[in-house]
Amino acid sequence: MSVTVRVPAKVNVQLAVGAARADGFHDLANVFLAVGLYDEVTVTPADGLRVTCAGPDAGQVPLDRTNLAARAAIALAERYGRTPDVHLHIAKDIPVAGGMAGGSADGAGALLACDALWGTGATRDELLEICAGLGSDVPFSLVGGAALGTGRGEKLTALEVGGTFHWVFAMAERGLSTPSVFREFDRLAEGRDIPGPVASQPLLDALAEGDPDALAAGVSNDLQAAALSLFPELADALAAGRAAGALAALVSGSGPTTAFLARDTAAAAEIAQALRTSGTCRSVRVASGPAPGATVVGDRP
Ligand code: C5P
Repeated sequence: MSVTVRVPAKVNVQLAVGAARADGFHDLANVFLAVGLYDEVTVTPADGLRVTCAGPDAGQVPLDRTNLAARAAIALAERYGRTPDVHLHIAKDIPVAGGMAGGSADGAGALLACDALWGTGATRDELLEICAGLGSDVPFSLVGGAALGTGRGEKLTALEVGGTFHWVFAMAERGLSTPSVFREFDRLAEGRDIPGPVASQPLLDALAEGDPDALAAGVSNDLQAAALSLFPELADALAAGRAAGALAALVSGSGPTTAFLARDTAAAAEIAQALRTSGTCRSVRVASGPAPGATVVGDRP
């Protein structure tokens, strides 16, 4: 028996970051949009826990128990008094260390796949609680669509989306670690008063109306200055996408992937082509959102 789950990447259309909390995390107002770039996690019973990964970035994926997919299987097994004797195979299409929740996607995918394989009967809320224990973005990978994440990003409120938004993503030459970008945010914020993070109502309205111009006017990312400070060349990719007609250009989450909002599929193809020949990035992908959350796409007896 094996179960395969498909899980989307995300882009943050707003990432408002508050001051560092006592636990080291930051309060966020995080407006997530799931986009149609997917990892697939397949779980098969095995003699012990094993993780394999295939795909262009597979060499950068840890295959030990630090992998979120492995941690998800262990967490679910512990809760239901089993041993996590499974082979987890990740077919990886989401950029690694890119700010698109690729690791979180694998955690949510493995959790849902193991849950289906073992027939635990866990409720959605129980699964979401395990996700939150794995990482701040993991609950969103499970639910997909669009959502506002508060707290450290794990407390989700589903958002209405009134249309399809077209995006181009430019992958950078190297990754950025999320903790280092938050540390740089803290360093840049030193001595300044950081207001509590609040979701932008015009941005939420733009999502609900499916209006790309209004969304472009409202996108923001408080981690962008920190990502650019650690990786100044990202400014060249942002400029190349803007010059090619992107309605908005921003760093995705903690970066270094840059995200470009396009008016329609034709504009997205043009922006993608311009970025491919710009020499400012490693590779380019086109994807639209919202995309569904983690979904079982296959089970074999
Ligand atoms: O929750 P997750 O494991 O994805 O977080 C990775 C790191 O990102 C944390 O260890 C922390 O340094 C930073 N982070 C943060 N505030 C958040 C989410 C993440 O400071 N709300």
